[in-house]
Amino acid sequence: MHNTILVTGATGTVGREVVIQLSIIDGVRVRAGVHSIIKGENLKRLPDVEVVEMDFRNRDSLHAAFTHVDKVFLITPFSDEQVAMAKTLIDEAKAAGVKHIVKLSVIKADAVPETMIGRWHREVEKYIEDSGIAYTFLRPSSFMQNYSNYDAASIKRDGRFYHATGSGKVSCIDVRDIAAVAVEVLTGAGHEGKAYELTGPEALSNQEVADMLSGATGRQVAFVDVPEEAARNSMLQQHMPEWMVDAMLELEQAYKQNRFSETTDTVGQLAGRPPHSFRQFAQDYRECFI
Ligand SMILES: NC(=O)c1ccc[n+]([C@@H]2O[C@H](COP(=O)([O-])OP(=O)(O)OC[C@H]3O[C@@H](n4cnc5c(N)ncnc54)[C@H](OP(=O)(O)O)[C@@H]3O)[C@@H](O)[C@H]2O)c1
Repeated sequence: MHNTILVTGATGTVGREVVIQLSIIDGVRVRAGVHSIIKGENLKRLPDVEVVEMDFRNRDSLHAAFTHVDKVFLITPFSDEQVAMAKTLIDEAKAAGVKHIVKLSVIKADAVPETMIGRWHREVEKYIEDSGIAYTFLRPSSFMQNYSNYDAASIKRDGRFYHATGSGKVSCIDVRDIAAVAVEVLTGAGHEGKAYELTGPEALSNQEVADMLSGATGRQVAFVDVPEEAARNSMLQQHMPEWMVDAMLELEQAYKQNRFSETTDTVGQLAGRPPHSFRQFAQDYRECFI
């Protein structure tokens, strides 16, 4: 019998990779929940993938997406509305009789002292725990793909990228590894009630990242350590909303203090192979930086 798995945020960094990796698993029917059908067009070409439109802000748009769904991989965007969006999705999942929710959370969502992002994710985790639906939480570290998504433009333009992280180290993870864990959790057994902290194989400073990007691209890439106030002003000048600037600076401060530098071997255990190193990521994504 086919198992229908709904992936929300399916055109995003993690969602797209989860849909791609699930689409090659026998006995799985994937429903890709997309904000806009146009952006989801190329997901339609994958085997056994059905694309449905969903707007997390509009409950009426969700019903069709949840019909006959067994499991959900729950992704909400980095937004100050993400708690409300996630709660709406969980209510809808419950109403539709979904049997298992796998939630994309964040590393140390239950840590003290908490970050704003961690607090939001933990609030949603608790809402799922109280829903009575079986759950698994994937709590990844910072994504390696943040460099290709957000730093590549300045690296391409002037060979530099800017953060307020000093020599702090972070154990970044490749989203391809988050997706591999998601596939195991969604299609394997015995993951209910678990929270998995997911990291890459090593903690790196941004200087080490710059060196590896230089090696992979064959051009000089420099990391510029900026004072927090300058980082704030620059983000505000780029019209980032204030809550987002606060959240980003709080994370950069935590990175600077090595609060996210621990590594776990959970990817190896659940994916059955070692996680990608940053050196491998830099090689695979080198075209983004040149
Ligand atoms: N980046 C990191 O380092 C990191 C680390 C740990 C955890 N996280 C967590 O990861 C999550 C984000 O995952 P991601 O990076 O894969 O996200 P992403 O690339 O920003 O993608 C977000 C997805 O959500 C969709 N979306 C946005 N608003 C929507 C709405 N109103 N209705 C329906 N769909 C909507 C987007 O579609 P459109 O583009 O078409 O709007 C997109 O497909 C956040 O919860 C974040 O806290 C991130």
